[in-house]
Amino acid sequence: MISIKNITKKFTNITALDNISLEINEKELFGLLGPNGAGKSTLMNLLVGYINADEGEILIDGEKISIENLDIRRKIGLVPQTLALYDDLSAQDNLEIFGSFFNIKKNTLKNVVADKLNMVQLYDRKKDKVKTFSGGMKRRLNLAASLLHDPQIILCDEPTVGVDPQSRNAIFEYLIKLNEQGKTIIYTTHYMEEAERLCSRIAIIDFGKIITTGVLETLLGELHYSQTILINKNHLTEKKTGLFQTFGEIINEQDKYELKPTNKLKLSDFFASMEENGINYESIEIKKPSLEALFLHLTGRRLRD
Ligand SMILES: Nc1ncnc2c1ncn2[C@@H]1O[C@H](COP(=O)(O)OP(=O)(O)O)[C@@H](O)[C@H]1O
Ligand SMILES: [Mg+2]
Repeated sequence: MISIKNITKKFTNITALDNISLEINEKELFGLLGPNGAGKSTLMNLLVGYINADEGEILIDGEKISIENLDIRRKIGLVPQTLALYDDLSAQDNLEIFGSFFNIKKNTLKNVVADKLNMVQLYDRKKDKVKTFSGGMKRRLNLAASLLHDPQIILCDEPTVGVDPQSRNAIFEYLIKLNEQGKTIIYTTHYMEEAERLCSRIAIIDFGKIITTGVLETLLGELHYSQTILINKNHLTEKKTGLFQTFGEIINEQDKYELKPTNKLKLSDFFASMEENGINYESIEIKKPSLEALFLHLTGRRLRD
């Protein structure tokens, strides 16, 4: 269990983290979601013990993390946001160097490196210099480099920035696999879709403060409307705007109406009413509530601003 207790971290005149408290359970795949500058990387650097907090403390299984506490720092692997690789060295040489930082014994290092290269599907490219790699390959190697010492807790700081969709999927698959093997993972991102896809529980962070924490589905359920319904415009639906209005607010878009139910809408009631009025299902699309909508709801701002 990771307990983050009342952490404040300032950089001269910037308060990067402002009295943050958060608990992350063992074996969780926890999402830390927030826009650029929110304080995500600062929290990751504190968790891995690269920097110390001004106030508060972080406990891992009851033990306090600090720059000096090397034993506990070995339980953690940080996949840093900024790539930390030697461009002029091969993939294998890179991992061997990182392995020596972690004091992995020479006789086991070769096997560990081969194993990790296999995991991120770069074994065939092990002799190639990193500078010949695509963005996605570099990200995968960066991930492998952080896992050489087999940490119990894995911190991933925006590991898919600048990555092609295939490598992105591959990274997701490794993380899900590692999580299934029992690793605790904290995944930071400013992409809501990633948090939605990967994480069961999330925290939203902005301006150094936790805005909300919870199970994704519960958080989305808190939105005053539970989903958006898109209704294609056609000769029939254009005559029925009054009917749609009985279910909520409608926004008139160019080729469709966007219906935002005001109360918790029972979809079965909605569809029964549509059927009575001869409106077929092909005209209707249900959009799930999104984290984007949740962020807007909580902050009054869009996440990408
Ligand atoms: N080493 C540093 N020196 C000064 N300011 C910093 C430093 N690291 C981060 N900051 C500032 O702290 C805030 C949070 O940054 P960061 O943790 O990198 O956010 P995120 O990772 O969510 O984008 C930003 O305003 C950033 O400019
Ligand atoms: Mg960051």
